[in-house]
Amino acid sequence: MNLLPVGIIGTGKYVPEKVLTNQDLERMVDTSDEWIVTRTGMRERRIASADQASSDLAYEAATIALKNAGIGAEDLDLIIVATITPDMFFPSTACILQDRLGAKKAAAFDLSAACSGFIYGLANAANFIATGTYKYVLVVGAECLSKVTDYTDRNTCILFGDGAGAVVLGQVPEGRGFRSFELGADGSGGPLLNLPGGGSRCPSSHKSVDEKKHYMHMAGREVFKFAVRVMGTAAEEALAKAGMKKSDIDLLVPHQANIRIIEAALEKLELPEEKCMINLHKYGNVSAASIPIALAEAVEENRLREGDCVVLVGFGGGLTWGASVIIW
Ligand code: ACO
Repeated sequence: MNLLPVGIIGTGKYVPEKVLTNQDLERMVDTSDEWIVTRTGMRERRIASADQASSDLAYEAATIALKNAGIGAEDLDLIIVATITPDMFFPSTACILQDRLGAKKAAAFDLSAACSGFIYGLANAANFIATGTYKYVLVVGAECLSKVTDYTDRNTCILFGDGAGAVVLGQVPEGRGFRSFELGADGSGGPLLNLPGGGSRCPSSHKSVDEKKHYMHMAGREVFKFAVRVMGTAAEEALAKAGMKKSDIDLLVPHQANIRIIEAALEKLELPEEKCMINLHKYGNVSAASIPIALAEAVEENRLREGDCVVLVGFGGGLTWGASVIIW
């Protein structure tokens, strides 16, 4: 089968207006600006308002991505929303977004791979276009992590924020677009990072809420070690599949979980910090939205030129990981 070249033809991002600073967190839990900055690199994150859900953030980012792609919502064949904080169990956030956008002919589904979800979504979308099944696919990473964060738990509440990033995928000229995907999972690490309540294993009840099972739980140190191990390796494997080298990278767009994790990946890839998108100081960890927000900012800041080699890499709950090489 002849595969068509597929690439990103439009990007967009949206973050809520409300800012939660390290100083605000100092008033909420036993922590300090100095601890948070040294251990994570984070200074602020954005927090959705009481009436904003993930689909609302997704809608804003998607509208910008569609405009930048120069197509209308009615041109979309498929919408994939990567999220671990859907508006509700069902209908999917992608269906809610499809209706709001007026993307009448688009199929729609959500994808759950935590912080790796956006890269998993890109891999799915690219295959639909490469095989000629679809022409235009919208991939969104959207999260309202503040709604599942326990603001009395200093181990997690300093890390997470809300936001959405979106891209439109379509056919691109030969020689450009996606060169490779590297996806992986290790389900045995699932308990290290989870939200145990509200599903079929532990349905919502007064007891599950009293036990705080509707919040995210994390073994931070274990996740940190996994992340350091997997980020560089996943990027290297994606480069090898693409027939490229570390020195070919023009811009690395990593998941924004912790500056020390990003620094470890840069060391492994022998890259200077100038070749890396870093925005966790402004937004914290936005799970599936971190990478598309950073990519949209790279475009806004004119950091990408035609023909540049861009590497996306992320890890997250599941455990999962993913990387992709793109010729811009
Ligand atoms: N303020 C002050 N002290 C704190 C805080 C805080 N906010 N949080 C923890 N501490 C304390 C701990 O209690 C511990 O004290 P102790 O030694 O007396 O027990 C001490 O600081 C050190 O704790 P560590 O957990 O060892 O700190 P570490 O350097 O590992 O940093 C962190 C913690 C930031 C959570 C780090 O482990 C990390 O970034 N892990 C990865 C998290 C991550 O990437 N999650 C991905 C989520 S993605 C997704 O799928 C949603």
